[in-house]
Amino acid sequence: MEDRIISANFMMEDQVAELSLRPRYLAEYIGQMQVKENLKIYIEAAKMRREPLDHVLLYGPPGLGKTTLSVIIANEMGVNIRTTSGPAIERPGDLAAILTNLQEGDILFVDEIHRLNRTVEEVLYPAMEDFALDIIIGKGPSARSVRLDLPKFTLVGATTRAGLLSAPLRDRFGVVSRLEYYTEDELTFIVSRTVDILGAQIIGEAAREVGKRSRGTPRIANRLLKRVRDYAQVKGDGIITLELAQMALKHMQVDEKGLDQIDYKMLEAIITNFQGGPVGLDTIAATIGEESQTIEDVYEPYLLQLGFLQRTPRGRTATVLAYNHLGITPPEPAK
Ligand SMILES: Nc1ncnc2c1ncn2[C@@H]1O[C@H](COP(=O)(O)OP(=O)(O)OP(=O)(O)O)[C@@H](O)[C@H]1O
Ligand SMILES: [Mg+2]
Repeated sequence: MEDRIISANFMMEDQVAELSLRPRYLAEYIGQMQVKENLKIYIEAAKMRREPLDHVLLYGPPGLGKTTLSVIIANEMGVNIRTTSGPAIERPGDLAAILTNLQEGDILFVDEIHRLNRTVEEVLYPAMEDFALDIIIGKGPSARSVRLDLPKFTLVGATTRAGLLSAPLRDRFGVVSRLEYYTEDELTFIVSRTVDILGAQIIGEAAREVGKRSRGTPRIANRLLKRVRDYAQVKGDGIITLELAQMALKHMQVDEKGLDQIDYKMLEAIITNFQGGPVGLDTIAATIGEESQTIEDVYEPYLLQLGFLQRTPRGRTATVLAYNHLGITPPEPAK
């Protein structure tokens, strides 16, 4: 999993270029038209009223630009951003400390917000709703609750699993935006943009080829591009041609649709071991030796998006498209 080139999860090697590649304003943020249009209006309105922006929840698969968007929101609003994550806030006191240190209008970005624990979440409710912090002073019968005012801030929450968010938390977000997988055109554009920033050279068709194999995900596009660029430097004269790009991608075992060995293993297991399914997630996980959580968050969403997999109440099934892609004859449909 860690070495998986097409993993949408953040890896160390992404870090170096990450900062320079991250779009800083909405105008540089490619794709996600609907989300962008909405945010643009809300941001403008909030600025006109000189009020902080409503709390924003961003959700969608890893690597689609949630963190990027949170920084953009802060830049567009012209405010500071404080970044933390669900698992990092262990106790209510941790959150209280963060909240009391915010300045009026600041953005508090909470990544993986579905992983906040219950007691911390309860501190967040009045903070989001009334910009207030309820603290208990004393112990036992003499304990009393004191309400502290907080600066008006904007919470931007990000999650890959909106379904795991508790209803009361979800309801307190004024703006809920779902990020979608990017189109081939958008990814091609992102690749070209990255090439410019890196000062590399690429042929248009090669940029498209990289975009096409990036699983709809900018993070993967940038990562594939960097490997392809290395390849072109060593095997060619530095210019990334279509042929070099295809060779490099083949070398990385990323196919025309962006599938790698693990996707193949998973689809083959469903098709050959379980007659195409339905088969439960845990069974698939055990068969191919991966964690079911990882399959659900990282591998499966893209296969669902491609229409290679289907989720049924009884488990996952491989579709005719998956059979065709693997070059296996699909079974006759039952009469
Ligand atoms: N709309 C976009 N236009 C151009 N580049 C983008 C866009 N969205 C994301 N990127 C690039 O993809 C990289 C990954 O994006 P980001 O870290 O924001 O993803 P994420 O959704 O927060 O992922 P995770 O769920 O893993 O936290 C960024 O560093 C940026 O270079
Ligand atoms: Mg992120």
